[in-house]
Amino acid sequence: MRYGKANLLDLLSLERLEQTCFACEAFSRRLIKNHLVNPRAVVFKATAPSGEIIGNIIGVLKKERGILTGRIFSLCVLESYRKGGVAAHLLRLLEEEWRLLDVGQLRLEVGVLNTVAQRFYIRHGYLQTPVILPGFYRNGTDALIMTKCLSEKKTPLVETPYLSRANGIAGPFKRLPPSSRVAYQNHHP
Ligand SMILES: CC(C)(COP(=O)(O)OP(=O)(O)OC[C@H]1O[C@@H](n2cnc3c(N)ncnc32)[C@H](O)[C@@H]1OP(=O)(O)O)[C@@H](O)C(=O)NCCC(=O)NCCS
Repeated sequence: MRYGKANLLDLLSLERLEQTCFACEAFSRRLIKNHLVNPRAVVFKATAPSGEIIGNIIGVLKKERGILTGRIFSLCVLESYRKGGVAAHLLRLLEEEWRLLDVGQLRLEVGVLNTVAQRFYIRHGYLQTPVILPGFYRNGTDALIMTKCLSEKKTPLVETPYLSRANGIAGPFKRLPPSSRVAYQNHHP
């Protein structure tokens, strides 16, 4: 497997990958293109020996309440390549890149029913916050927010207003004490 940054030449392959992995929630070609050209976004790809792109991760940096926050907008691996550590490698690349940029916190939305992805993120040090985003996905499914502090000094941020996965943009944040986060985690394994 080869890993590296994606560019505009990968646009159609990434679109196909999104459609295969996310069905009706797939990012549009336009949104993927925006991420590929956005200097604050980073897109890593995993390429099989055949040349096929079989996984990617999309992250965008934002300054939120004075804290440089890395938002993970998409992570997917083709089904036949799963459970081989591809997603773990992609996540590590993104986190390493952002750590070098002094990013304080990472954040992502994940479907409440997507226990595979939730377990994956928990294993990689992400914590569930107390916030549920009702109807975040087009099929009406709710999302929950997971965060990871890259800097030990930061406390988790929780967003209030939001749009949806397809729009990929969330609104302002409120800060919750770590104690409430831990209590909530026990209710939503
Ligand atoms: C979530 C997702 C990205 C994980 O991708 P992946 O490449 O399978 O992830 P990894 O291989 O790194 O880890 C997955 C599991 O395989 C296991 N694994 C990794 N390498 C392994 C190996 N060599 N042998 C056996 N198991 C292995 C890991 O321990 C992990 O176990 P877990 O069930 O405790 O999480 C993938 O399932 C996916 O694309 N899902 C659909 C899209 C999605 O839901 N994305 C997340 C939205 S936020």
